[in-house]
Amino acid sequence: MNEQHAWWKEAVIYQIYPRSFADSNGDGIGDLPGITAHLPYIKELGANVIWLSPVYKSPNDDNGYDISDYRDIMDDFGTMEDFDAMLKRAHELGLKIVMDLVVNHTSDEHAWFIESRSSLENEKRGWYIWKDGKDGHEPNNWASCFSGSAWQKDERTGQYYLHLFSKKQPDLNWENPEVRDAVFDMMDFWCQKGIDGFRMDVISMISKVQTFPDGDTHGGLYGDPGPYVCNGPRVHEYLREMRTRVLSRYDLLTVGEAAGVTVDEAKKYANSEGTELNMVFHFEHVDGTPGRENKYGKWTTEHPTMPAVRTIFNKWQTELEGRAWNSLYWDNHDQPRAVSRFGNDSDEWRVLSAKMLATCLHMMKGTPYIYQGEELGMTNTPWSDIGEFRDIEVINAWKQNVVDHDIIPADYMLACLNAVSRDNARTPMHWDASENAGFTTGTPWIKVNPNYKTINAAAELADPDSVFYYYKRLIELRHMYPVIVYGVFEPLLPENEDIYAYRRVLDGQTLTVACNWTDREVPCDLFDGEGEELISNYKAHRAGVLMPYEARAVLISEKKG
Ligand code: GLC
Ligand code: CA
Repeated sequence: MNEQHAWWKEAVIYQIYPRSFADSNGDGIGDLPGITAHLPYIKELGANVIWLSPVYKSPNDDNGYDISDYRDIMDDFGTMEDFDAMLKRAHELGLKIVMDLVVNHTSDEHAWFIESRSSLENEKRGWYIWKDGKDGHEPNNWASCFSGSAWQKDERTGQYYLHLFSKKQPDLNWENPEVRDAVFDMMDFWCQKGIDGFRMDVISMISKVQTFPDGDTHGGLYGDPGPYVCNGPRVHEYLREMRTRVLSRYDLLTVGEAAGVTVDEAKKYANSEGTELNMVFHFEHVDGTPGRENKYGKWTTEHPTMPAVRTIFNKWQTELEGRAWNSLYWDNHDQPRAVSRFGNDSDEWRVLSAKMLATCLHMMKGTPYIYQGEELGMTNTPWSDIGEFRDIEVINAWKQNVVDHDIIPADYMLACLNAVSRDNARTPMHWDASENAGFTTGTPWIKVNPNYKTINAAAELADPDSVFYYYKRLIELRHMYPVIVYGVFEPLLPENEDIYAYRRVLDGQTLTVACNWTDREVPCDLFDGEGEELISNYKAHRAGVLMPYEARAVLISEKKG
């Protein structure tokens, strides 16, 4: 069966984390005019959609994911005029803008919450999730994703409010139809401005099991709310309502960040009938370090194994075929750098393994996402002291696991933060070899990765063999060959420990892709000289083998007639 065509299936998306992208006024913080100035860079890369992490008014407890006014711009980033100018310039360049929609929670400084907390009788009391304590304790044992309890007692009324993230991010009560009205209205405001889509923050968590039962503690301090808040009882109903009332009236790209999503759930969220979202981000390859046992959950120094990563991707590729659409990503602002986690960031192998990973992902079926700096092969940052981190997740986890409860030894926790902390991806973008990587003329809000002198956009734009031009070529190929967008995915060599290989098939064309995930030469008989090589990170090949981190994609077209 032939897949229905859509622009968002053919798109390649570039994610900007505005705080760390480009600073235009020397205050050390990236901003909207900084983005506008660098739009031609994204155009040059060839991505045609930009996902902008939140730019709304925010006290920045969680870098903009705590919104205090959905209809205004964060002071650090500029003004609504700056936003409008950016949107206009992007559209002139043929770039679409997808906004981050953070509506599981607001900031505690949002007017809605200020009213809601003011009294039991306030008309917005029911806009958030308020509960009485149980025997002088929290209403249940749920953990916040940022450590500690998910409940905060509010002295004014003596009740607790739910915050699945920081205590400055109270969860909205989606059960309340007035909340849904207000959210849909706000979405309409941005659609009317002409934006091109929404990336929906933790959208899988908006519907909670209304009995609020305790979660399994797995031997830890708090209970896991996951089973009661991820893919909750009414989430699909809410998204269908959102589709009817807002999304269906515009031509948008919609992608849901879906913590805890399974392939079966994804078939609903991203169903081909289009009743909910276009696609979701699942977490299976970035949660829990595939192929490894982890004593401390997220906090680990281990790298995932290729066969475990492959099992996950192959499942999503084959299971969603014809039923729902995939999104494809290695990293984003919540993950360590792709080349450091999945590849090899040593001087010897960084470039080759970054290109290999890019090939492996971009030749799959689904819409690919590139996180700022990934196209340069940017690496994790070396951190030597807890004081260097800015991320609330890190700061709270350190306090809980190291300072307060002695759960994880300090030196091991620091090693884990070097491996997997979110701040690895949040250090400033490397524009050139000048001071602070050309990101700011002032003092950057977070440290700059010291390797910017060798890894930066200016150097890569001057080098035809750079990671940048390799990504550019991958994007070009996707836009040229329908088999890359619409071809059916078929796994190859499923037992091979070293090579990730697969085939894409469409209308008599077969694209064969093979990626060596090791630093060794390994035997491979997939390529016998036939076909047209679309891309490879090696200029010359050796028959019967793949070189260390070699990736190759070869197209064979059936002769017609
Ligand atoms: C999402 C965001 C993350 C944020 C969290 C709470 O996971 O990607 O950055 O901290 O939601 O909004
Ligand atoms: Ca600035």
